[in-house]
Amino acid sequence: MTPTILEILTKARSKLTGPEARLESELLLAETCGISRSYQGIHPDEELSEKHCLQFDSALKRRIAGEPLAYITGSRGFWDMDLKVSPEVLIPRPDTECLVEQALLRIPADAGWQIADLGTGSGAIALALARERPQCEITATDLSMAALVIAEENARLQGTKNISFAAGSWLQPIKSSLFEMIVCNPPYIPADDPHLKQGDLPAEPEHALISGSDGLDAIRQIIPDSVSHLKPGGFLLLEHAYDQARAVSRLLGHVGFKEIFTKKDYGGNDRVTGGKAD
Ligand SMILES: C[S@@+](CC[C@H](N)C(=O)[O-])C[C@H]1O[C@@H](n2cnc3c(N)ncnc32)[C@H](O)[C@@H]1O
Repeated sequence: MTPTILEILTKARSKLTGPEARLESELLLAETCGISRSYQGIHPDEELSEKHCLQFDSALKRRIAGEPLAYITGSRGFWDMDLKVSPEVLIPRPDTECLVEQALLRIPADAGWQIADLGTGSGAIALALARERPQCEITATDLSMAALVIAEENARLQGTKNISFAAGSWLQPIKSSLFEMIVCNPPYIPADDPHLKQGDLPAEPEHALISGSDGLDAIRQIIPDSVSHLKPGGFLLLEHAYDQARAVSRLLGHVGFKEIFTKKDYGGNDRVTGGKAD
């Protein structure tokens, strides 16, 4: 006899640690066996097939060994999308939706702006902006070819046509272009930060996380480079760590950005800082 849905979920919950154990068990079952969470709730006493038991057990073992849920299921929700992810890309975070919100507050609904998303990873920010502002043209760059393959696949899966992709370092592949807005969630963790050993971070690509000894190397490069790529009055918006707002504001001020602002994420931490080009 094989276990029921409730039995296998109860077993999984007891093996997974942390406050999310229940949700993670349900998501693992949903994603690995195609048994939705609502179905699980309505049919707790239904027996699983042998095949589903094996699939679930193998996914559970990977999770217990520390592999991020998103890499096991191959997807992560961001904005209103389910995005494909792999170990080649950062797992999109809810904090980054704060950057999308701040960008959308500044892009008029009918604008036909040119927008750059630097270090696009899975394409999360570029895709959210492209879908919310279909008349804008988004250019998304990344140094990682593997990330760009995932981002392009996500654009195809979402049926998004107003994004183009370019490989290279930050603005280098789009040297001759001018933008009304540049957005970026760069790597911003200091190389010796103990958080790098926690949660999903050990499994994520280092080049998506770490940026020098104080976490600001990428931001120090992107801010001055952006000046010559923004139209007058254009915006630069950057995601950063909770304790970097002051440094980022200072760097923006040094190269002449005006109307510098910082916004908090929903956890109450400073998360996005930006300004307007002269
Ligand atoms: C923090 S991740 C952000 C990914 C995605 N934008 C998101 O918000 O989920 C940083 C991204 O920057 C990319 N990256 C790192 N160095 C880069 C560089 N010099 N030029 C362009 N992209 C770079 C990484 O490959 C990674 O995809």
